[in-house]
Amino acid sequence: MPALPTPLLLLLVPLLCVPRAARAQVNPAVCRYPLGMSGGHIPDEDISASSQWSESTAAKYGRLDSEDGDGAWCPEIPVEPDDLKEFLQIDLRALHFITLVGTQGRHAGGHGNEFAPMYKINYSRDGTRWISWRNRHGKQVLDGNTNPYDIVLKDLEPPLIARFVRFIPVTDHSMNVCLRVELYGCVWLDGLVSYNAPAGQQLVLPGGTVIYLNDSVYDGAFGYSMTEGLGQLTDGVSGLDDFTQTHEYHVWPGYDYVGWRNESTAGGYVEITFEFDRIRNFTTMKVHCNNMFAKGVKIFKEVQCYFRSDAGEWEPNAVSSVLVLDDVNPSARFVTVPLLHRMASAIKCQYYFADTWMMFSEITFQSDAAMYNNSVPPPEMPMAPTTYDPTLKVDDSNTRILIGCLVAIIFILVAIIVIILWRQFWQKMLEKASRRMLDDEMTVSLSLPSESSMFNHNRSSSSSEQESNSTYDRIFPLGPDYQEPSRLIRKLPEFTPGEEDTGCSGLVKPSPAGVPEGVPHYAEADIVNLQGVTGGNTYSVPALTMDLLSGKDVAVEEFPRKLLTFKEKLGEGQFGEVHLCEVEGMEKFTDKDFALQGLEASSDRPVLVAVKMLRADANKNARNDFLKEIKIMSRLKDPNIIRLLAVCIADDPLCMITEYMENGDLNQFLSRHEAQSPPDAHAPTVSYRDLRFMATQIASGMKYLSSLNFVHRDLATRNCLVGKRYTIKIADFGMSRNLYSGDYYRIQGRAVLPIRWMSWESILLGKFTTASDVWAFGVTLWETFTLCREQPYSQLSDEQVIENTGEFFRDQGRQTYLPQPALCPDSIYKLMLSCWRRDTKDRPSFQDIHRLLHEPAGDE
Ligand SMILES: *[C@@H]1O[C@H](CO)[C@@H](O)[C@H](O)[C@H]1NC(C)=O
Ligand SMILES: *[C@@H]1O[C@H](CO)[C@@H](O)[C@H](O)[C@H]1NC(C)=O
Ligand SMILES: *[C@@H]1O[C@H](CO)[C@@H](O)[C@H](O)[C@H]1NC(C)=O
Ligand SMILES: *[C@@H]1O[C@H](CO)[C@@H](O)[C@H](O)[C@H]1NC(C)=O
Ligand SMILES: *[C@@H]1O[C@H](CO)[C@@H](O)[C@H](O)[C@H]1NC(C)=O
Repeated sequence: MPALPTPLLLLLVPLLCVPRAARAQVNPAVCRYPLGMSGGHIPDEDISASSQWSESTAAKYGRLDSEDGDGAWCPEIPVEPDDLKEFLQIDLRALHFITLVGTQGRHAGGHGNEFAPMYKINYSRDGTRWISWRNRHGKQVLDGNTNPYDIVLKDLEPPLIARFVRFIPVTDHSMNVCLRVELYGCVWLDGLVSYNAPAGQQLVLPGGTVIYLNDSVYDGAFGYSMTEGLGQLTDGVSGLDDFTQTHEYHVWPGYDYVGWRNESTAGGYVEITFEFDRIRNFTTMKVHCNNMFAKGVKIFKEVQCYFRSDAGEWEPNAVSSVLVLDDVNPSARFVTVPLLHRMASAIKCQYYFADTWMMFSEITFQSDAAMYNNSVPPPEMPMAPTTYDPTLKVDDSNTRILIGCLVAIIFILVAIIVIILWRQFWQKMLEKASRRMLDDEMTVSLSLPSESSMFNHNRSSSSSEQESNSTYDRIFPLGPDYQEPSRLIRKLPEFTPGEEDTGCSGLVKPSPAGVPEGVPHYAEADIVNLQGVTGGNTYSVPALTMDLLSGKDVAVEEFPRKLLTFKEKLGEGQFGEVHLCEVEGMEKFTDKDFALQGLEASSDRPVLVAVKMLRADANKNARNDFLKEIKIMSRLKDPNIIRLLAVCIADDPLCMITEYMENGDLNQFLSRHEAQSPPDAHAPTVSYRDLRFMATQIASGMKYLSSLNFVHRDLATRNCLVGKRYTIKIADFGMSRNLYSGDYYRIQGRAVLPIRWMSWESILLGKFTTASDVWAFGVTLWETFTLCREQPYSQLSDEQVIENTGEFFRDQGRQTYLPQPALCPDSIYKLMLSCWRRDTKDRPSFQDIHRLLHEPAGDE
């Protein structure tokens, strides 16, 4: 079979199908590349500071994830709460669109203990006018670090556009601070430095609702008009069709738009002046307009643009474009205005009213043939945004026919190729992707795989035609320079990720080959998995071991190996074994509080523990991961999380000693039980109340994990353990067992993903957050109430599950939800459904879930 180079296929498809508009504007969801503090692309001389404590804590050492010098930048004197004059400044040499910042304190291999608990950001586009960044609610202070080693990432909402950025540490008492930072974003190709426009106005709807159409994030001067700033027209967020709805939460109606009323302006037009960083050769301007004509809002009917180079006069010959408007399509859209390769450093455009109101949410400029690398489609704009051809004829039918023809051709072409190469391609790419995930270097997104499944399964199915004008790029591995910044967290032995943990390594599970059948009830039975969590651990084993031994970060004690009495082998893997052991005097080695509540043993009675052992000949990666796992587990202390009791790491083989849960995992446990209702049940029974009690405990454990910002990534009944009297503890921080291999989606035996438990954004975008844990909790709840009698979506194949994920993403009501289990009252089913809401912000938190489940049930 002739093997078509796969990259060709990847390139071909997006180029033909993605409309130009999607590539011409900055996409804040994609524009998140590290700008070179940690990677070293920003040279030392571009990093400066207000002061330095010593030569070895100079500004140039303020690089995230770097231990050079004395480990960070530190100012000369302590930071005072009411006198913020210390700062670390970065000159990016060109305007950048910055969406994310990361900070870290001074760790210096354990010598440092300084960090900035809070900070502010100042930025400047010209180096003279400094602006304080504020979030969409006007708050300036960002939460910084809580310890000297973890990286904390903060999304900038709104993003900022600047060449110079200052980090200003903030404290609530006089305090020594040190800082390491990184900026994430991309080059600001628009080159726009400021726009001046009349201030936005207020629209009062017939019902009395006031729509505020001001530019609320404008960073220039306000007055009758806005001058010298950038704001909502350049924040990368396009407004919705209905201008009363917004993308942002907790803001007022009309937030995404800046709007003007005809009567308030002279001449029947709005004039906006745009200043650029240099003289550019302009091809187009794209204006995202609302067109809700039923409410008196329309796209402008005409636009005239004047050009100016440097400080000269406006050139007399304007570029003028007239739009032919329809009253058919009320959706908001980008209107493309050709600028005919005029050279200018400033543009002045007059947009003429076609109705009482005109509303813009974004204005972008394309010049000098520069294009953004927006290769991953943002979830906000799944479908091709409506675009106009440069003649500005609003001609939807023509566009549709054109797109239709194109799509049909592509469809046939791709279908042929895909059919031939289907298996080979898909498998190879997934394999490659998974390998890259292991290397911690890639973003993998399985975008809209429903298309591909469509080709595979029911090519002739009807509705496929319209939806195939969405993008096809299923997997788009970005280059190593463009790694997701939050992936950096994975390089640290500590877990504490930021709010948005999108790393993938925890999920990539190697094939558990060689594990014997029927691994019994033990939390971390599958030692084989340890090889899965390889990757850029920058700490060497000895350092970490010393860390562990010094007890600085880890609150578990070394346990004398000889006190363990072997009882039974619970499991075996490539790198070690799990034993059930008896031990006397355990409580001497564990926390007092825990000895009381957890082990339930008086000091004279031996207790059972599970001991996971790493073979002495295990490779370095496995050792590293074993120690990493110890470190993670040692920090988790909650009655509903499996507890690490002690370790033996002074000599080989390395061991970790955890609680032993006699009833095995929840999946097996429930499978052995029957619902209480049939009076003549043969198996042991379990009541609704018991099920609810168990679910409440899972929620409680997850509440604890989420309070630490810890993302579990693999919550499922198989990873919850059952003790006496229906007590539940969550276990298995990133492991799988061959017993449940059917629950994982296998990619040529290399990586496996628990897709039936994964949220759509985890599958499609590789994003793992507490909200995706909430999704998995919903599935776990469903399993619990079906008594684990079937796998989630058991009637769907793996490919169909992924296809269904695409439907969740598109949210057009075609997604399949898990059905309501018989034992499950409406209130609980409603809770499940809320866990599977498309928008992560709409899902409940674990606090909410726990509260809801904990309340006395009125519906039994
Ligand atoms: C930050 O910007 C604000 C507002 O422009 C200014 O008052 C303040 O002095 C600046 N701080 C630093 C450290 O640059
Ligand atoms: C815009 O309008 C909202 C709603 O009235 C108001 O809270 C906000 O302060 C305004 N923003 C600016 C920058 O004027
Ligand atoms: C602007 O760019 C276009 C296309 O790249 C080119 O044909 C034209 O000559 C350029 N104009 C100037 C003045 O350089
Ligand atoms: C806008 O206002 C001007 C007068 O300022 C008027 O001539 C024009 O007809 C109005 N246009 C619309 C579409 O209402
Ligand atoms: C787009 O990607 C190319 C090569 O991958 C790179 O040279 C270019 O700088 C990127 N552009 C942006 C805006 O990041």
